[in-house]
Amino acid sequence: MDLEKQNAANAAVKMILQHDVVGLGTGSTAYFAIAAIADLVKNGLKIKAVATSKKTESLAVSMGIELLNIEDVQYIDITIDGADEFNEQLQLIKGGGGALFREKIVASLSKKEIIIADSAKKVDQLGKFKVPIEVVPLASSYVKEQLKRLDGISELRKDGDSLYRTDNGNYILDADFGLFTDAAVLAERLNQIEGILAHGLFINLSTMVIMGKGSEVITYQ
Ligand code: A5P
Repeated sequence: MDLEKQNAANAAVKMILQHDVVGLGTGSTAYFAIAAIADLVKNGLKIKAVATSKKTESLAVSMGIELLNIEDVQYIDITIDGADEFNEQLQLIKGGGGALFREKIVASLSKKEIIIADSAKKVDQLGKFKVPIEVVPLASSYVKEQLKRLDGISELRKDGDSLYRTDNGNYILDADFGLFTDAAVLAERLNQIEGILAHGLFINLSTMVIMGKGSEVITYQ
């Protein structure tokens, strides 16, 4: 799987142009892209980057990649990020690593949102992976009840004995809706629930998925 991730990452970084503003994803697949970008920077590529999480921020700084604050950026030329599941319509479930809110803002600012993945991430129907939902803590019981009305069984994510906290200090409810036929409809319903800061359904945000499969690389767009 690591080879598939690395091949996808290497194919994606080839799309970065001199002086681009580049969004850096979060997770084990995005790691390969960040490392490849750091190598290109050492060899003369001039870019400025935006990170999708505190973890990626530290990683990028340690690798010598110059960062911008998201709030200072009007657009991002290209973002390379991972996903937990994707389908051929380029709909995604993201947030397994807990960075979904910032990932969504970065994706929304991006002209090109390139998702890199190993072949295990491709599905016909989304929903085997539980949908991560970032909730403001005081709204967590309310949101859990609202999710039940959508046939979603959710659990607060744990971090050892404590509840997991996102970079924004919020909780994550991992919600099992079973396999769903219409991700866009579910995303729209989740958008209506007060207390949800962001959910892991990325609809109409990805412009391309690059998937490693064995030693091949397959592109969906
Ligand atoms: C981070 O919160 C996520 O959205 C990741 O992009 C996603 O979980 C993929 O991570 P891996 O590349 O580690 O599978």
